[in-house]
Amino acid sequence: MLNIAVLVSGGGTNLQALIDARRDGMIKNGRIALVVSSNSGAYALKRAGKAGISAEVLPRRSFAAQEEYDAALLGLLNRYEIGLVVLAGFMTIISETVVSRFRNRIINVHPSLIPSFCGEGYYGLKVHEEALKKGVKVTGATVHFVNEICDGGPIILQKAVEVRPDDTPRILQKRVMEQAEWKLLPRAVALFCEDRLEVENGRVKIKEGTS
Ligand code: GAR
Repeated sequence: MLNIAVLVSGGGTNLQALIDARRDGMIKNGRIALVVSSNSGAYALKRAGKAGISAEVLPRRSFAAQEEYDAALLGLLNRYEIGLVVLAGFMTIISETVVSRFRNRIINVHPSLIPSFCGEGYYGLKVHEEALKKGVKVTGATVHFVNEICDGGPIILQKAVEVRPDDTPRILQKRVMEQAEWKLLPRAVALFCEDRLEVENGRVKIKEGTS
């Protein structure tokens, strides 16, 4: 059984989708062993508590240097014997040190069709604001492995979502979550836990399986 850490900063609806998927038997070979929040006020912590999952609060600003933060995060991941790290609305940048220690074992969900509306400064509601400003008719979500480039790692799954004329950023965010993120993220985690994701030349191949 693979131990999964889910890193969060806010509402934790993607964490909830993972908790539900695990409960419903969709994620078979993995268990959420740890939730790490970048802030103590995140509602995601309540979700973890309700599901009986161990949770730790690790704000980047509590550490003077990046190396100290990295050591604390890696220490936690080691202590819980984590094999997969999931960034579910985690708003702290993961350093190269941590990326290289967990190469192709960190998964992120991003609320757009990468390479649109991604990279530094594109997070949360801002992504949807920019999509509406541009007037795109289709947006969506992407689940990808994390590498040294912000939102630049190998793409695992994507799903398109329609943009409607009267959308506000919040309405669009909710549709992208419901129709794409909450489906893609548990699916990608299940595939990882079944050892069905292969990275070759920066691209992800999904191996045949039964589910
Ligand atoms: C989600 O929309 C997620 O894709 C986004 O933050 C939201 C977190 O919601 N992540 C990013 O923008 C990362 N660049 P949640 O806390 O309810 O899961």
